[in-house]
Amino acid sequence: MLLRLKNFKSSIGYLISCRNAETLVEKLGNSVSNSVNFHDAAINLLEWWESNGVSVIEPLEDIKTNRETPKEKPAPSLPIANLNISQNIANPKDAIAKAEEIVARCTSLETLRAALDAFDGCALKPKATQMVFADGVLDAPIMAIGEAPGRDEDEQGKPFVGPSGQLLDKMFASIGLDRKSNLYITNCVNWRPPGNRTPTKEETTILFPFLQKHIELKNPKAIILVGAVAANTVLSSSDGINKLRKKAHVYKLPDGREVPVYCIFHPSYLLKRPVEKSAAWKDLLIIKRQIKHIFG
Ligand code: URA
Repeated sequence: MLLRLKNFKSSIGYLISCRNAETLVEKLGNSVSNSVNFHDAAINLLEWWESNGVSVIEPLEDIKTNRETPKEKPAPSLPIANLNISQNIANPKDAIAKAEEIVARCTSLETLRAALDAFDGCALKPKATQMVFADGVLDAPIMAIGEAPGRDEDEQGKPFVGPSGQLLDKMFASIGLDRKSNLYITNCVNWRPPGNRTPTKEETTILFPFLQKHIELKNPKAIILVGAVAANTVLSSSDGINKLRKKAHVYKLPDGREVPVYCIFHPSYLLKRPVEKSAAWKDLLIIKRQIKHIFG
């Protein structure tokens, strides 16, 4: 079943997929008898879900109006003329090769940021408002890596600023980490996948050379991978997060140094399954113990 709803106050349209539409109908079906009330109740429920970080709602591009007028793209933070990037990208293989060629010439986080902003090999870029590169302290010892920007991140240009970001901040704060003093945060994918869908393997693979360079230039003392996409991408694994979170891993930098890596549940998963919060809390306490020596 596919349900189309329109919020007449905001002019935002919603497309709800099969399973969620069924849940909605199930939740509302007994208490709402006519279709007008069903519509309003459904909109309220959808908005409540969305404000709680449950990403089940896909706004419909075609019936959106002034609320989401496209913003001007910010200029790249650094001129990249000196990188001399000519982009002739016909397929994913070309895109990966071009990404590798570009990052080989990036020697600072600033050039990497500008080079990524100018990279045209990821199909997500034209659909996004802006690139989301990173947030936090540049020389922070801990680097956290998430999946991809969502709607709030796409609007603000910073990772993890929406509801799941707020939960992530609380999770990190509980073990003494925050982006103002000792934490740096980025994502595997730097442009928002439409409708907040999970990035594809192709998208994470094309952007992985940039992430590898990001880690190398950032040079963290420990890495925390937030959720399955980040864990699978950085560790080149296909294991589930439930398995990966149960042990520490290592990420090898090009100079041979091994950086300890920990995996945690993604906060958006915890918003949907709060029952897992106690397991997430135990994971965080273990990480806190393991990284204690970094802070002396
Ligand atoms: N989820 C992520 O994985 N990253 C973000 O930046 C926001 C939500």
